[in-house]
Amino acid sequence: MQIRRFDTQDTESVVALWRDCHLTVPWNDPYKDIARKLKVGSELFLVGTLNDTVIASVMGGYEGHRGWINYLAVHPTHQRKGFAGQLVLAIEQKLLASGCPKLNLQIRQGNDAVQAFYESLGYSDDNAMSMGKRLIPDI
Ligand SMILES: CC(C)(COP(=O)(O)OP(=O)(O)OC[C@H]1O[C@@H](n2cnc3c(N)ncnc32)[C@H](O)[C@@H]1OP(=O)(O)O)[C@@H](O)C(=O)NCCC(=O)NCCS
Repeated sequence: MQIRRFDTQDTESVVALWRDCHLTVPWNDPYKDIARKLKVGSELFLVGTLNDTVIASVMGGYEGHRGWINYLAVHPTHQRKGFAGQLVLAIEQKLLASGCPKLNLQIRQGNDAVQAFYESLGYSDDNAMSMGKRLIPDI
């Protein structure tokens, strides 16, 4: 798998990937999420390709205190080949180069498979509650 920065020409492929990976939800417009990311820290929005076809994505972020990972996805036909691990490592290296001391991420309650994935990479439960407040409704 080749890893490179997201390009606007990848938009439809990435949205289709997120749909195939069940990452899209009614209250988040994936096109708006992509447009916002292109305005803030777009260098941390990466795709993985095989023969120039997008098969994976990760949207990293850093606000000066914590690094974040969102929209980590590997197409179902290419899972369990280590590709997500490679993408997370790529984000970790970029964040480390920026001086980021710690990564955080959110997993939906009960998603044991994703928890197992992150634990395999050395992540652990912070025993913290995640809270949110919507500022801009997408729908
Ligand atoms: C989570 C996801 C990105 C993992 O991608 P992947 O490329 O298959 O992961 P890797 O091959 O790098 O997995 C590395 C290790 O993580 C663990 N792991 C990965 N998927 C797992 C699963 N479904 N169940 C248990 N452990 C898993 C294993 O230890 C695996 O090593 P192994 O295959 O040698 O046993 C992928 O399943 C996915 O896209 N899921 C749908 C989208 C999603 O939920 N994203 C996360 C949003 S929070």
